[in-house]
Amino acid sequence: MFQLDLAPADPILGLTETFKADTHPDKINLGVGVYQDATGKTPILKAVTQAETHLLKNESSKGYLPIPGVPELATHTQELLFGAGHAIIQEGRARTAQTPGGTGALRVAADFLLRAAPKATVWLSNPSWANHQAIFEAAGFPVKDYRYYDKASQGFDSEGFMADLEGVAEGDIVILHSCCHNPSGIDLDQTAWEAIATQAKAKNLICLVDFAYQGFGEGLEGDRAGLHVLLDAGLSVLVASSFSKNFGLYSERIGTITVVEETANDAINAFSHVQAAIRAIYSSPPAHGGKIVATILGDATLKALWIEELAEMRSRTKAMRQAFVQGMTDRQQVVDFDFINHQKGMFSFLGLTQEQVLKLRANNHIYIVGSGRINVAGITPANIDLLCDAVTKVL
Ligand code: LMR
Repeated sequence: MFQLDLAPADPILGLTETFKADTHPDKINLGVGVYQDATGKTPILKAVTQAETHLLKNESSKGYLPIPGVPELATHTQELLFGAGHAIIQEGRARTAQTPGGTGALRVAADFLLRAAPKATVWLSNPSWANHQAIFEAAGFPVKDYRYYDKASQGFDSEGFMADLEGVAEGDIVILHSCCHNPSGIDLDQTAWEAIATQAKAKNLICLVDFAYQGFGEGLEGDRAGLHVLLDAGLSVLVASSFSKNFGLYSERIGTITVVEETANDAINAFSHVQAAIRAIYSSPPAHGGKIVATILGDATLKALWIEELAEMRSRTKAMRQAFVQGMTDRQQVVDFDFINHQKGMFSFLGLTQEQVLKLRANNHIYIVGSGRINVAGITPANIDLLCDAVTKVL
């Protein structure tokens, strides 16, 4: 009936399947952005286990959640984004809905934007998370990109970025990574955020901030600095949050979409369309992940434990960056990998070609996304020597 060719495998999740099928004992997965601890496991945080125990004991119904999900989750998300007591919260200028993961948040945002700005073009960083383009094209938007990564310096292409920003048309949608840019690990600097704020004001641009890694770069507050440049400029923004990484709740699919508007009334109106979009996709969100996050953030002891566990994930990832750079410096002088120490979050571009990536897979059972992005959080004390030896060989 359906005369269809095979759809291409997903560049990230498809790679996980190939990795799982590999039976080599020393295989290394640096593909999908999932945190692994020093033993190579993706742990369930202690704060999560304690919250789940509490929920199991106290949950009394499986009735539907309202369309925007667990109400307390909205309050806690806004405190994470803006800081407790921030004027935006006090003035009621933000509204938040629970979504199935950060991907769900982006898709809800896309459907909302179809109502609010149907003629706009969506602008993505080049490169960006592989799924961004698919999400906005699936919603029906034309997608273009702005320059971001400079291969020669392994850093931010400030000139190209500024020039491309000038070319974005009135009313267009700009997708920004709040921190821990996926896939490059290179974040926007203060000057770039200020340039976005200026352009957004001048041309009524819609900024959608993808905030999938809050706490993985500098910390919960440091990672929202760029977002606050936009907020301090008085801009209306959309923020897609994910709790997959910072709470380790990948399989629970938990995220939020937040609309910040100029007035409380505008926020209420916009949010009514967010809710209408949700109703037409999945009606209301599943409860468990939202309740876990709300339970943790609503309890001072659990929240303190979570902040500690998040700091541990952040510092282990940073330590693995340093260990990799050291390991490569000890082995070769062809490439100076120091740039990796200046990147943030889970990902880095190693600067490898597709051919080198494929060689690492075939010869060493090391799985890296085709773009050359590695998940630094997949490096462990047990696999680092194998990894550095193998990368040295392909340079
Ligand atoms: C990644 O970029 O690897 C993660 O965000 C997982 C995904 O859904 O692609």
